[in-house]
Amino acid sequence: MKRIVITGFMGSGKTSVAGALARRLKCAMLDLDFDITKREGRSPANIIGDDGESAFRRIETSALRAALEESDAKVIALGGGTWTIQENRELIARHECLTVWLDTTFELCWRRIARSGDSIRPLAPDMGTARALYDRRRASYQLANLRLEISGDDETAQAVAQIESELTGA
Ligand code: S3P
Repeated sequence: MKRIVITGFMGSGKTSVAGALARRLKCAMLDLDFDITKREGRSPANIIGDDGESAFRRIETSALRAALEESDAKVIALGGGTWTIQENRELIARHECLTVWLDTTFELCWRRIARSGDSIRPLAPDMGTARALYDRRRASYQLANLRLEISGDDETAQAVAQIESELTGA
């Protein structure tokens, strides 16, 4: 089976969709942020806070490489910035993957970001900064194989069904 790689902005629902998809397909799932936390003993937010974004990006690329080369997880949830980096997209392209962009409205992403508190997402400290990043990143997200529009909180099951039908060609 092809690997499925889920991308999208912070708060787009990557972890939830990836988890539900993996349960549905009865396969293992890897959440890159969680994996980084396990490998480094620090969360992405802490790494960015302590060592800066560039240091985090290097760690993120190594973790992604390990996930693709060493893990048997068939579903991978990326961090919000992972797919926007060309080197990471090239890595993913070297493996057979279906890349899925959860194109969640900014309003929904922001509601979730704001709810999760200031310390979790240092790259989206306020609505204006988050909005500018959201707009800037759309061009990269558009390079994913499949785009799923999401505007509500209860669309996980629908997203899973759409990914499944893409996989089976239905
Ligand atoms: C980031 C998103 C975060 C995390 C890090 C950087 C980004 O993941 O990887 O804070 O650049 O958008 P989530 O998308 O899971 O919040």
